[in-house]
Amino acid sequence: MPSARLLLDPRFTVGPVRRKLFGGFVEHLGRHIYDGIYEPGHPAADAEGFRTDVIALVRELGVDTIRYPGGNFVSGFRWEDSVGPREERPRRVDLAWHSTETNEIGLHEFASWLDKVGSDLMLAVNLGTRGTQEAIDLLEYANLRAGTALSDQRATHGRAEPFDVRMWCLGNEMDGSWQIGHRSADDYGKLASRTAKAMRQLDPGIQLVVCGSSSAHMPTFGEWERVVLTHTYDDVDLISCHAYYEERGGDLASFLASSVDMDAFIDAVVATADHVGAVRGSKKRIDLSFDEWNVWYIDRFEGVDKIEGIDNWPVAPRLLEDVYSVADAVVFGSLLISLLKHADRVASASLAQLVNVIAPIMTEPGGPAWRQTTFFPFSLTSRLARGNALRVGVEVPTYETTAYGEVPLVDAVATHDADSGRSAVFLVNRSQTEEVTVTVDVSALGEVGVLESHTLHDDDTGAANTLSDPERVRPRENASASVAAGTLTVTLPPVSWTALALG
Ligand code: AHR
Repeated sequence: MPSARLLLDPRFTVGPVRRKLFGGFVEHLGRHIYDGIYEPGHPAADAEGFRTDVIALVRELGVDTIRYPGGNFVSGFRWEDSVGPREERPRRVDLAWHSTETNEIGLHEFASWLDKVGSDLMLAVNLGTRGTQEAIDLLEYANLRAGTALSDQRATHGRAEPFDVRMWCLGNEMDGSWQIGHRSADDYGKLASRTAKAMRQLDPGIQLVVCGSSSAHMPTFGEWERVVLTHTYDDVDLISCHAYYEERGGDLASFLASSVDMDAFIDAVVATADHVGAVRGSKKRIDLSFDEWNVWYIDRFEGVDKIEGIDNWPVAPRLLEDVYSVADAVVFGSLLISLLKHADRVASASLAQLVNVIAPIMTEPGGPAWRQTTFFPFSLTSRLARGNALRVGVEVPTYETTAYGEVPLVDAVATHDADSGRSAVFLVNRSQTEEVTVTVDVSALGEVGVLESHTLHDDDTGAANTLSDPERVRPRENASASVAAGTLTVTLPPVSWTALALG
């Protein structure tokens, strides 16, 4: 049986675990909003039509800031359509997802839902079909207290207090040819800079996220970041990263190593941002907003092409409703490990997405809501990762992958919270055949024991939670975890993700 050795010492700090690392993303897409979080008439719906069973699951998931309303959707969105009296709101075509947007849910309703789930709002402005004026109009509507046309209009629409949105995304995936209003790095960089300056003139305290690449595998990756940041370095706080992973061609070994790609992606964007800063002689540091990440079977997605015809614009069609397996959840857990390992520079992250659409939570109209396999690594990491993220220096054998070459069998990260004295260790075993025994030197923590142990594993790596079997997969206590004489020992089953709480 292979073994791994780690060292957990609170002095080896990467950076603080910011709660924004556990953000989410809600897009007007498929059944995310309509027939997802919002289903008037459902037995569990509240007076506003929001499903209380979904609210309970989102709370349990432990999601911080939520990015809204897209995504590709935002690049064709007219925000004014979605405020004011509902009966007067127009129905619009959503070109990104070939659907009809009814605008039944807009900024006011979504903010009300956020209050119920206990999360903050991160708003994206449309820099696809629209520009600086519409962005500052939305900012005025959302954040100005009173005394101007748009802030007063907000009050007329029932909300006297500003929404006070702190984080704003300057468009979405503007490097992608699929994006409405897609443009070159130079054109986008200039537009983003102009828009950011104007937005800050209105509200200097906001945090601004400029679009990075929509994946590290875009042909313009790296150069896009360099050019865009050269235009916007002084105007923005963060640059976005997006990454989705999937098992391709039955190559589970490579898929299980997806976080190697995420690690390299983050390192490359940090290096590029710091390069631009160095060239400018700037002391300012641009952090990363990893505001779309997940496992997504894009290769299996037929796209919106399956919805054909000029007169066929369905409301809330079933789109991107991926069913996640145990293997998917193990990879998902390892992506969270990667984000924590970069807690010094990844200041914010958004799991894409939350409900029904590539989501940890699924619902059936008129029926139940349930947790997908990916729910568990997120909820446990969000709950247990506190204080500072720590480098743990894993000593472990490697295995060969087609996509990434030699990859460590085990990946891990730890956190330590000086206030409570509690620590947590998150581990993934990528071996498909062998258990790995892990020993962790925890002597720097003094007298500690295992408070909680959770391992997600199943002999069938394809096992999933579904409507007919919603509780097939869940994490189990890992009884092998124990501490003796300053050493934590735990056995990780093949293809598994584990979280341990120590204190
Ligand atoms: O999350 C689904 C889509 O993926 C988003 O709309 C887009 O930003 C990305 O390409």
